[in-house]
Amino acid sequence: MDNNIEEIKYTLKKYGQEHLLNFYDTMEENKQKKLLEQIENIDFELIKSLYSNINKLQISDNDKIEPIDFIDKYKLNEKYKYYEDIGKKAIKAGKLACVTMAGGQGTRLGHNGPKGTFDIGLDSHKSLFELLCDYIKEQSKKYDVQIPWFIMTSNDNNNDTIEFFKKNKYFGYEKNIFFFKQGELPMIDTEGKILLGEDGLIKLAADGHGGVYESLVKSGMVEKMKQLGIEWVFIGGVDNCLVKMVDPVLMGIAIDKNVTAAGKSVVKANPHERVGAFCKKNGKPSVVEYSEITDEMAEATDENGELLYGESHILCNLFNISAIERMGSNPLPYHCAFKKATFKDKDGNIVKPTSPNAYKFEAFLFDAFGEVDDMAIFRVKREEEFAPVKNAEGVDSPETARELYNKFNKLV
Ligand code: UTP
Repeated sequence: MDNNIEEIKYTLKKYGQEHLLNFYDTMEENKQKKLLEQIENIDFELIKSLYSNINKLQISDNDKIEPIDFIDKYKLNEKYKYYEDIGKKAIKAGKLACVTMAGGQGTRLGHNGPKGTFDIGLDSHKSLFELLCDYIKEQSKKYDVQIPWFIMTSNDNNNDTIEFFKKNKYFGYEKNIFFFKQGELPMIDTEGKILLGEDGLIKLAADGHGGVYESLVKSGMVEKMKQLGIEWVFIGGVDNCLVKMVDPVLMGIAIDKNVTAAGKSVVKANPHERVGAFCKKNGKPSVVEYSEITDEMAEATDENGELLYGESHILCNLFNISAIERMGSNPLPYHCAFKKATFKDKDGNIVKPTSPNAYKFEAFLFDAFGEVDDMAIFRVKREEEFAPVKNAEGVDSPETARELYNKFNKLV
């Protein structure tokens, strides 16, 4: 152990992070062990480069952004049935799995507990998790298969999530539910110093929904999917109570067009809606943030009057398992957010900041789209498939989600 400590001290000195051992001598043995383990797992080169790139925009001037083609669900006519039949066949053959990303912090909603446990106020008082599970169970029945459901948690909410499922007897779907945890990265202060949390251990934060691919691979879930004969994986968020995870038309399109990824879009509410839009970046599928395009680009239309960058990304995507493996083995860029984070300062005081004090790094799921050559974009109706619960009140709140759910979900 002593040798180990000397090596660790050397590394910490090299990267200017010696403060991480400030309280080591006064810690209990099991915590000491945990801290050393955490330090050994930190990629200090990565942290250094993330800090030095904090102010750089992710998009470079040299990136060529172009519109991407899409298929409108309501303009498919006879092709609808054609795609639907292809998709239905694959679903019935047990080739589809669903992944729900439930590792987020849900800061805007402010619910005490994992977001999936939130009750949006329906008469049934079902939680988001139960609504999603009801949906998967119903679809499994419809197609006479057991669609496996993989749920991504974070270190922060993993225990509470699993407890919630246990308490609710897994909503009767236990043998088809699998949990896996997403990765984490240390938070750093404005000087690039890694923070210690209240417990004296490294202050870690979930690495963003882009961590889903790597976590699926590393946790062995991709392997499990293969054993189950899965070929297609729908990945969506936990907070869209109308998410249609089992969509034979989307699947049929992906299979027929021989692409390994397909994403659902909804038309932007207006050209300047603050959402990301599907596009092509340097010839590959991508999502361009509203802040990354000029007003002129945001307002540009084609000969039919459709916005060229109007297909909002709603975190509803389908991937071939081969694409997930590829996406999970190549690192994604990290985006940085400035957040409030309680920490232990160098004198051992616990500081609860009232304004942001620390950087958190997150990978975005769509940054991996460029790993595939082509992606089918399927435009669906916002009100039918997109009822997100983001804020406590107002836009995208429990109230708006509840209204949409009651109106457009046939299951309640
Ligand atoms: P959001 O980006 O809306 O974040 O996540 P959030 O955590 O739900 O809410 P805020 O921003 O803190 O208020 C979209 C989806 O991605 C998942 C979330 O659980 C949600 O389903 N997500 C996000 C993760 O699984 N892990 C992450 O690290 C981030």
